[in-house]
Parts: sequence; structure tokens; C-alpha cells
Amino acid sequence: MRWEDELQGWLLTGYWEVAAALADPRVSRGGGPRDGDLLTRLLTRMMLFTDPPDHTRLRALANRAFTPRRVEALRPRIAAVVDEQLAEVDEGEWDLIEGLAYPLPVIMIAEILSLPPADRGLFKRWSDDVIAVAAGVGDDPERRDRAHRSADALAEYFAALVAELRAHPNDTLLSGMVDAEEEGIRLTGEELLANAILLLMNGHETTTFAIGNGVLALLQHGAELARLRDDPMLISAAVEEILRYDGSVQMRGVSVGEDIEFEANQIRAGQTLWLAIGATGRDPRQFANPSCFDIARSPNRHLQFGVGPHFCIGAALARAEIQLALTGLLGRFRRIELAADDIKWHQIAVFRGPKAVPLALGR
Ligand code: HEM
Repeated sequence: MRWEDELQGWLLTGYWEVAAALADPRVSRGGGPRDGDLLTRLLTRMMLFTDPPDHTRLRALANRAFTPRRVEALRPRIAAVVDEQLAEVDEGEWDLIEGLAYPLPVIMIAEILSLPPADRGLFKRWSDDVIAVAAGVGDDPERRDRAHRSADALAEYFAALVAELRAHPNDTLLSGMVDAEEEGIRLTGEELLANAILLLMNGHETTTFAIGNGVLALLQHGAELARLRDDPMLISAAVEEILRYDGSVQMRGVSVGEDIEFEANQIRAGQTLWLAIGATGRDPRQFANPSCFDIARSPNRHLQFGVGPHFCIGAALARAEIQLALTGLLGRFRRIELAADDIKWHQIAVFRGPKAVPLALGR
């Protein structure tokens, strides 16, 4: 690890130092004032930006709703959405991102949150406005105003949705969260709303990018693609390798609330640690032949979903979505080729994903 002037923070790229920082209780995801207008209150009540004891309480509720059993039960629905998305696709040219990698996680998370299909666009627009501020592009006053108005609209919409779910519970995860709240884990309405927005925000782009990166990695390694076609049981190992080899999460910024010594460095209160999660997948001290893409690699304990108390709550869902998207695509098309010489990437330092993946398909 070293200090980087350009980042105005510490850069950590090694597997063990990043794993240690992710799980270190002295490392904070919070900070900043917790009170203020609705927008500030929403952003600071997302579990991803809180520390214990608040984090423990917020996470307990979502954990109860996001049980492995519930996620397992979603698999047939995920497979059906993949089928629906691919049903209209014929031979010829088709964009993987627009046609499957983007809609699949959006539809799933919207259903998990019980959002009626007709309202999805509205909810997404409001939360995009709030997320833009969370992502740090909110210094523009007009954007901030819009985010305030959207936070108000979300709060109003969501209050009605929660009231409806209280009166008529269903088997969605959000309904589970509303129920769990009544069973005694005390969460305010704002905390519930903040974490529903967080699920929507974390629940799609990372997975979209992982599906895109995965298909690209398989197309660039024809022998591994053929191996997966021959032995479809390799799909879960293949998805872990995709995540390690070309992860959609590249960086996570965290900070420390007090002066600490970490890996023999003095970190001052308030300084940022940039954790290069993507780079850790290629650390030769952890992975043999790290640049080799091997869909049966074992063990493969990559850090794409983090480690410790903030370990990704959607990991099982993301894994199921990526696995079923790839299985659906390979099962339907015998010939899959890249239909562009050049892939355009999103220019976001913390994520890695293609804007489009044009494919030439044949049965
Ligand atoms: C390939 C897809 C995904 C990747 C690579 C990913 C990665 C991560 C990582 C690295 C963290 C930990 C951050 C930290 O330690 O500060 C995290 C947390 C989180 N993720 Fe994911 N994620 C993915 C998909 C999802 C999905 C589908 C959902 C929701 C359904 C989700 C919801 C969350 C939430 C709510 C947290 C915060 C957990 C906490 O703070 O306790 N993620 N994710």
C-alpha cells in the first residue's frame, strides 16, 4: 500500500491488505452528519454508508429478508425472465447489454421490491437522482435540487407501498422486510426507504457489468467457452472465475475515524483508503497464474463481494442471475461471436463494465 497524491489517499492493491481493510472494525464507511434534510438522512441511513451499531441493526433486517431460501426460490423466476428476454431474439446482431444484462437485474430487483411494472421507470428516475448525489456528483446545485424533490417523491410513494404491503403482505423480499420490522427490529420508515433505494442502486449495475464482462471473457477464451458448453455443471465455478478475472467492482473508498496504524503505515483520522478490489483478483500471492482464465479454478476466494460485516447482501442473487443469464444464452445459441472490433467501456473509476456488447448470434 502507498500514499497516492493523485487520489489524495492510500492505495491498496494486494489481496491480503485489501481483505484486512474491508474487515477491519477501525475502518469506517460512515462519517459526516446524520441529521439534516430528507436527502441527507436517506443517504446516511443506507447500510453501505453506516458503521455499527446502526449497521448491525439495518443489516439484520435485510438479512432476514434476503435468506438463501428466498433467493433459491427466485431461481425459476430468474430463468423465466432470461427466457422472456431471449424469446424475441433471432439470429443476427444483438446487444447483450440492452437485451439481457441490463433488464434482467432491473426486473428482478423491482420485483423483489414489489414495484408494479408500470411504476418502475418512475422509481428508477427518482432513485437515479438520489444516487447521483450518493456517487458524489451532487455539487451541482440544480442536481441537488432535483435530488431533493425526488427524495420527497420517493418517500411519499414508498409510504403508500409499505402501507399496502402491511395490509396485504405478499411473498416479496420487501414485504418480508416490512413484516420483520413489525416483529421488533426497529427501523424507521426512512431507514426502510433508504435501504430499499440502496438495494435498487446496488442491485443492478454491478450485475449488468458482470454479465457483460463474463461474455467478453468467454469469447476471448474460446477453449474455455467450449469447455463450459461440454460441461454445463462448470457454470458456478465459471462465474466465480469471471468475477475474479474481470470484476465489475474495481475500487471501494473507505476512511478512518481516528489515527490508526495499518500494515505498518500511520493513517490519519479522515484519510481515505482506496481498496483496489479488482486488482486483488490478479494478486499472484493469492492466485496461481492470475492472468490465466480457468473456468474450473479452485480454490477461488476472490473479493468481488467484499468480506466481513459489509459482505454483499445480494451475492447469492447476483451469482444466480449471472449463472442463469450465461446458461440461457449458451443454451439458445450455438454460435456467439463479437460483432464489433472495439468495445466502449464506462468511464467510472470504481466500476468496470462495457457500454454495449454487440454479438452475432446463430443457432
Ligand atoms: C456482481 C454483482 C455484485 C458485486 C460485484 C457486488 C459487490 C459488493 C461489494 C464489494 C460490497 C461490499 C462493500 C463494502 O465492504 O463496503 C457490496 C455490498 C452490498 N451489496 Fe453488492 N454486489 C453485487 C450485486 C448486488 C446485488 C444484486 C444486490 C442487491 C440485491 C447488492 C446489494 C448490496 C448491498 C445492500 C450491500 C451493502 C451491504 C452492507 O453494507 O452491509 N449487491 N456489494
